[in-house]
Amino acid sequence: MEYLTGFGRPIGTCPPRATLDSDAPRLLLNGAWRFRLAPTVADAADGFWAAGFDDSGWDELPVPSSWPMHGHGRPAYTNVVYPFPVDPPHVPTDNPTGDHRYAFDVPAAFGGAGIESVRLRFDGVDSCGRVWLNGVELGVTQGSRLPAEFDVTAALRPGERNVLAVRVHQWSAGSYLEDQDMWWLPGIFRDVTLLARPAGGVEDVFVHAGYGADGRGRLRVEGPAGALVGVPELGLSGLPTGAAHDAGPVEPWTAETPRLYTVTVATPAETVTLRVGFRTVAIEDGILTVNGRRIVLRGVNRHEFHPDLGRVVPLDVVRAELELMQRHHVNAIRTSHYPPHPAVLDLCDELGFWVIDECDYETHGFELLGWRGNPSDDPRFAEALVDRMRRMVERDKNHPSVIMWSLGNEAGVGENLAAMAAWARERDPGRPLHYEGDRSCAHVDVYSRMYAGHEEVDAIGRGEDHVPHLPFILCEYAHAMGNGPGGLAEYDALFDRHPRCQGGFVWEWIDHGIRTDRGFAYGGDFGEPLHDGNFVIDGLVFPDRTPSPGLVELAAVYAPVRIDVRAGEATIRNRYAFRDLSHAALRWRVTADGREVSAGAEVLPHVGPGTAVVVALPSAVVPHEPAESWLDVHITDATGLVLGAGQARLRAAPPPSRTATAVGARVDGGAIRLGPARFEPVHGRLVRLGGLDLRGPVLDVWRAPIDNDRVGPDPVERRWRAAGLDRMTHRLIGLDPTGDGLVVLTRVAPGGAGRALLTAYTWKCFDDETVELTVAIEPEGDWDVPLPRLGVRLELPGALGAVEWFGAGPGEAYPDSRTAALVGRYSSTVDDLSTPYVYPQENGNRADARWLTLTAPDGRGLRVQGRPHIDFTARRWSTAALDAARHTADLVPSGAVHLHLDHAHHGLGSASCGPGPLPQYVLHAAPATFTVALSGVGAAS
Ligand code: GAL
Repeated sequence: MEYLTGFGRPIGTCPPRATLDSDAPRLLLNGAWRFRLAPTVADAADGFWAAGFDDSGWDELPVPSSWPMHGHGRPAYTNVVYPFPVDPPHVPTDNPTGDHRYAFDVPAAFGGAGIESVRLRFDGVDSCGRVWLNGVELGVTQGSRLPAEFDVTAALRPGERNVLAVRVHQWSAGSYLEDQDMWWLPGIFRDVTLLARPAGGVEDVFVHAGYGADGRGRLRVEGPAGALVGVPELGLSGLPTGAAHDAGPVEPWTAETPRLYTVTVATPAETVTLRVGFRTVAIEDGILTVNGRRIVLRGVNRHEFHPDLGRVVPLDVVRAELELMQRHHVNAIRTSHYPPHPAVLDLCDELGFWVIDECDYETHGFELLGWRGNPSDDPRFAEALVDRMRRMVERDKNHPSVIMWSLGNEAGVGENLAAMAAWARERDPGRPLHYEGDRSCAHVDVYSRMYAGHEEVDAIGRGEDHVPHLPFILCEYAHAMGNGPGGLAEYDALFDRHPRCQGGFVWEWIDHGIRTDRGFAYGGDFGEPLHDGNFVIDGLVFPDRTPSPGLVELAAVYAPVRIDVRAGEATIRNRYAFRDLSHAALRWRVTADGREVSAGAEVLPHVGPGTAVVVALPSAVVPHEPAESWLDVHITDATGLVLGAGQARLRAAPPPSRTATAVGARVDGGAIRLGPARFEPVHGRLVRLGGLDLRGPVLDVWRAPIDNDRVGPDPVERRWRAAGLDRMTHRLIGLDPTGDGLVVLTRVAPGGAGRALLTAYTWKCFDDETVELTVAIEPEGDWDVPLPRLGVRLELPGALGAVEWFGAGPGEAYPDSRTAALVGRYSSTVDDLSTPYVYPQENGNRADARWLTLTAPDGRGLRVQGRPHIDFTARRWSTAALDAARHTADLVPSGAVHLHLDHAHHGLGSASCGPGPLPQYVLHAAPATFTVALSGVGAAS
C-alpha cells in the first residue's frame, strides 16, 4: 500500500484549477452508492473495482457522506493528539477502509464532437481515495478538503453505463497533515462530478478585478490566449485575456456592499461565467485596507459540521447559517482549518463576508513531541504541502470575499511553510498571507495571534511588540465553549481604539455535538480510547445551529451602530467602513417600571461610514409616574434587524415606601413568626411565607462550574473544590427575635477547613405581606480564591412556573457578558430560563432585577424585590444536580423550583482556552451586604 505512505502526495491527478461554471457538459455523481466497510485494507474486497463485480449484497450509502454518521464505524474526537502512533508516514494496520461503487449512465454528449477529454472531480475525500473507472485505475486522492481531478477520457464509456469504484482509507500519510481539532470522519464527503473538457475550451481563469481610488474598475483576466472577456453590465465585451483593462466606473465589492458583476470568458468551444467583485486588498502604512479603507474583522471561525451528517453540510443549511451570522453582525469568516465546500465561498461573495481562506494543514500533535519530525520541516512532505497550497489558491482565486490566504493552523515552523508562502505570493500578489504559527512573521503580512489577553492586545495596539509595522488580528479569541465567552465588549473596544488592531475571529461558530437519542454527543461518547471530551463543544451556536446566549452577546458587541443615549438626545455612531445609514431608521420609547409610556420615530440624518451624529429626541420626555424610567433607542434596517441599541435611565426608582414601623418576631411553639413569615428554629430558615411553603434563603456561593472554570491549564474549579466551596455547611450560631425583627447568625464553612463566611440574616417586616432580608457576609480566615457567586438559594413549589421581572433581559447575562441585556420588563417560564448547554453547567442568570415574580397557574406565587437590584436564576434542578450532570438528558426536574438570588457572580472569561475574567470581574471574598424583600402573593393562609 505504498500510496498510503507516500508523504501525502496525490497520484495521477490533473493540475489544479478554479471551480468554474461552464457551459460544457457536466454530470453530478452524488446519490445512493454501494458501500462496504472493512477493518483493514487486507480485509477489503478483492477486485471490487471491476465493472462486473457483484455488489448486490452491499449496503447503500449516500454520497456525499461521512460514513460513521450512517452506522458504519464510529466517530472519534481528538483535539491535539493524533489518535494513531506518530510514526510518519506510516499508518495503522487497522485502517478502516470503505469501498464505494456507483453505476451511472453517461450521456453520449461526453463523447461528442469537440470533447477532447473528460475529468472526474472529487471535491473532498477524507482522507485518501484510490479510484477506478470501469476497472481502470486512475490514481489516488490526498488532501481531504481539497479537490482532485482525474483525466478519465480513456476509461470512460459515453452513452453507456459506467462503474466508478473508490476505495477510501480513514488513515493515510495525509492524516499527519490533517490534525485539526474536530471529529475524525472518513468518507467521500463532498460532490463527485464528471466534467467534459471541450477542445479549445477555457481550462482555467484567474480574474484580477481591482478598484481604484478614482472609482474605476481594473480588470485583467488570465485565461487561454484568444479567449474573450465580457462584462455585459459594464458594456464591456471582446476584451482579450492577459491584458489590463480600465473597466470604467464600477460599484466596488465590499463585505458590506457585496456588489457582483457577471463576467464571461469565452472561446468558440466554451463559455465560463463568473460572479466578480471589484476590490483591492492592500496593506498601507501597517493597516489592512480594502479599497483604501481600514476594515475591522468582526469574525468567527467556521468549521464544516452538521450534527446528523458530520462533514456534509447541505447548501440550504449553509445559506441559512451564513444569514444567521449576518443577523448577528458577523462580517468575517476564517475557514478553520481548511478550505470549505466551494459553494460556501460563492455564498460569501454574494452575501458579503471578509474571508480568510485557510489551507487544509495542521500538525498540532507534533507539539506533544516537542515538534520533533514535524512535517512542516520535513523535506519529504515538501511536495505535498506546496501542492495543498496550490490547490487551495487555484480553486478559490476568483472569489472577491477571499481577502487573505492562510497557510494552515498550528503546524509549527519550517521550510515547507516558507515554500507554501513563497508559492502563493508569486501566484497571487493581490492577497496578503496569514499564518499564526510563526511568531517571527517571516513569511506573512499580518501579525496574528490566538487567545491573547486584553492587556496584551492593548500593548500590541500601542506598538509594543516585535512587528509593529504589521496589522494585527486575533485569528482566534474569546473561546465560546459552554457558558461564555466573557470579555467580548472589552476586546471590541480595543479594536475600536487601536487602528492596527483589526479585529478577530471568535473561536468558534458551532458546537460539534453529534445528535443521539441521549442528546448531543461529544468526545468519549463513542468509546474512543483517546479523546478530548467536550472540548469540541465550543461554539456560538448549538449543534443544531440554535443561537446560544454567547451569540446574542456577540451580536450586541459586533453591532455596526453604537448609540449613546442621554435625556433628550442620542449620539449615533456608524461603525461600517463603507455604508452610510440611509437603510436604517431610528425608533425610541420611554418606559416607566418597564411599561411603555411614549414612543416615536425620528428621521436619521446622513451618517457616513465611520462618522457620528447627534439626534435630538425632544418628545422623549421624562414621564410623570414616580417610577424608574428609561429611554430606549434602536436603529433598525428595513427588515427590522437591530443594527444598534442603547438606553439611558431618565429617572431613578423612588425609595421603597414604608408605611409602618417594623413589627417584632414572636416565638410560637416550635416556630418563629414574623408577620407573614414562619421560620424553623433548627437552622433559622424561612419555611412559610403567606400561603407559600418554601425552604428559606440559604447563603450559596457555589455554581456548577462552567467550562471556563473547569477546563484549561489552571482551572479555577480545582481551587474552588480544594477550598470546599462546593460543600459548604451551615451552623446556626444564634437566632435572635428582636423587637423589630429577627436576626439569624450563622457560620458557613466547608468541612476540614478553617475559613468561613460569617453570615447574618436580618429579617424585618413592615406589613402583612412582605418581609425584608438583609444578608451580611464577613469572610473569616484565609480566602485566596474568588467566589463563584454570592447569594442565597430557596426552594419553592414546582407549580411556580411563570416568571416575570423588571431588570436586564431578556436573555442570560453575567458581569462580563451583558452588552445584549437591556433593562426592561420581561416574562418567561422556569423551563425557558435555562440554557441547554450541551455539557450542563451554570446558566440562565438574569441580571439586575428590580423585582421578579414566580407564579403558579392558580395565581399564588412569590414576589422578590431587589434593594435595589438582584440577579436571579430559577431552574427545576438543584445546582448539585446541574454540577453532576454530563449530558442534558441527566437533568431531571426535582419537583421544586430552585431559585437563586445573587448579589454578585464571578465573570465568565474565556479560560477554557485563553484568559480568565478581567480583574474587574473577579469576585473576591470580601465583606458584603445585600437586601431583598420577599412577599407571598395570591391566596394567603
Ligand atoms: C486553537 C486551535 C483550534 C481549537 C482551539 C480550541 O488552538 O487552533 O483549532 O483547537 O484552539 O478550541
